[in-house]
Amino acid sequence: MAETYSKMARYYDKIYAEKDYAAEVERLIAFLGGGGRGSRHAGRRTLLDVACGTGCHLEHLRESFDVEGLDICAEALEDARKRNPGVAFHVADMTDFDLGRTFDVVTCLFSSIGYVKTVDGLRAAVRSMAAHLNPDGVLVIEPWFTPEEWHPNTVHAVYIDEPDLKIARVNTSLVDGRMSILDLHYLVGTPEGTEHFVECHELGLFEVNEMISALEGEGLVVDYDREGLTGRGLHLGRRRR
Ligand SMILES: C[S@@+](CC[C@H](N)C(=O)[O-])C[C@H]1O[C@@H](n2cnc3c(N)ncnc32)[C@H](O)[C@@H]1O
Repeated sequence: MAETYSKMARYYDKIYAEKDYAAEVERLIAFLGGGGRGSRHAGRRTLLDVACGTGCHLEHLRESFDVEGLDICAEALEDARKRNPGVAFHVADMTDFDLGRTFDVVTCLFSSIGYVKTVDGLRAAVRSMAAHLNPDGVLVIEPWFTPEEWHPNTVHAVYIDEPDLKIARVNTSLVDGRMSILDLHYLVGTPEGTEHFVECHELGLFEVNEMISALEGEGLVVDYDREGLTGRGLHLGRRRR
């Protein structure tokens, strides 16, 4: 998995420049019980962002929480550290990690959970994340697509056109059983030259009920919102006091 993102980590923020992380964090805070920017709402003060990537949610979350981040990709965390000076980041696999401490909120956003691929992987990741929750703490997971929502054999493209950087990212979305497959072809031009590389991303397609039972299996009380932060839905699992 680390290899999947290591090559494109340096272009990640360009590709997702349109993503409104500030607005997503505002919605997330409302889901957690309101309060808004700058407040320490609902008594929850500490937050771990799992699969935090380049730390764009954390940049806004740290206005309201004491935060830490975790990702399997060391290159992405280099950018996350620059964006969030003084914040602790951990290189680790979400299916098996132990930071030796617990948090009031654990998040796993932008469908990163799909990278665990299988229902067994999903259970392992939820187990690791739930083990890092304080009593009354909340695990927030923004899911990937369900099998019914995934449209295979569709083609997609993103283009970046800056004076010193041109990127064309083209892919066909495929499916193999319960695995969604994205073969992402990058054509990247800079003043130093132009290169082409391909990344194959495989993400498991989980049913809503599979997500809910993974959370309930760890003793969490689950709320599911169909819309969530970005239209992909949102699972909130609260540990009892
Ligand atoms: C779509 S990106 C989301 C990054 C960030 N949460 C955001 O919203 O910009 C998916 C992230 O999941 C990370 N990832 C994939 N598999 C992982 C695993 N097994 N454990 C931890 N992180 C993982 C990738 O390295 C990547 O940074």
